[in-house]
Amino acid sequence: MSVLRSVVLGCGSYLPNRIVSNDELARSVDTTDEWIVQRTGIRERHVAAAGEVTSDLAIHAARAALAHAHVDADSIDLIVLGTSTPDQTFPATAVTVQAALGITGGVAFDLQAVCSGFVFALSVADAMLRSGTHKRALVIGAETFSRILDWNDRTTCVLFGDGAGAVVLEAQEQAGTSADRGILTTHLRSDGRHRAKLYVDGGVSSTQTTGHLRMEGREVFKHAVAMITDVIEDAFKATGTSAADIDWFVPHQANKRIIDGSAHKLGIAPDKVVITVDRHGNTSAASIPLALADAVADRRIKRGNLILLEAMGGGFTWGSVLLRW
Ligand code: ACO
Repeated sequence: MSVLRSVVLGCGSYLPNRIVSNDELARSVDTTDEWIVQRTGIRERHVAAAGEVTSDLAIHAARAALAHAHVDADSIDLIVLGTSTPDQTFPATAVTVQAALGITGGVAFDLQAVCSGFVFALSVADAMLRSGTHKRALVIGAETFSRILDWNDRTTCVLFGDGAGAVVLEAQEQAGTSADRGILTTHLRSDGRHRAKLYVDGGVSSTQTTGHLRMEGREVFKHAVAMITDVIEDAFKATGTSAADIDWFVPHQANKRIIDGSAHKLGIAPDKVVITVDRHGNTSAASIPLALADAVADRRIKRGNLILLEAMGGGFTWGSVLLRW
């Protein structure tokens, strides 16, 4: 029986020009390149220029994805943008992107699930495309976490970076098997009991300030691998696939030790794991589409490959997406 699937037509990404190395950070906070690399795998991150905002990064990434997909912007009838660092409290950053791309029809909105933002956005866009209400979507993850970091707090400021990535999805008829192209399954979870382990200490309704990111790093670390593997097992169960079937594992890029631990626990070989955390740091909702675009640009990811995405972030929120490229 044929079904509608959300098929990826193309992807793109954008990183701000300025690169900040660990050594540069070590000049302003009490840290070392050695400590950061050993605990996180991060060597450098990109930081947005003064005046460069989340929508600027998102627009660059969206244009790159549209060009890669060979589709016109005005054929897009859905934009879902995952971010926790919007340009303004409102309107949604997605409508700024929509206007910049010259799109006047369809719908555009933001979605906030911190580091799981892209996986959540993909899942929501997928549901809308499969329902038949929309035909072609831009799904974007874009962040300027540099704006919410406490640059005097060495336990957090070394971990994050800025960037954006995007994919173009189209609703297409497929056979209804796990050999189909497109998104095969999505699994989202959240558990607000953990919300105080990773949060921003400001907000519109509470302090009327933007606030700074605060994290109990060890606590986040402790839960990460179990939560990640849990939603991935759900994806395998739903599709009758296993770790052996995966061509590329593209996890959220928070910390190399979490990525290695999850891949090991799932039995995914290290040479099937896409890693960008060394060059990008943790770019929250942008990290997965940035990593996808990287592996597509250097031709590791090819048409027909089975791709496993996974993310975990503040909330806690976590989720997985299994798709055939
Ligand atoms: N440089 C040098 N020393 C540091 C630094 C630093 N940048 N940061 C902390 N330390 C010190 C601590 O103060 C502590 O010193 P103490 O023993 O004298 O008290 C020591 O290093 C060890 O600190 P821990 O927090 O125990 O170090 P740990 O090995 O847990 O690594 C880290 C910390 C990297 C934050 C780790 O806990 C981690 O990766 N957690 C997960 C965080 C994460 O990935 N968050 C994002 C996921 S969700 C999302 O993406 C939004």
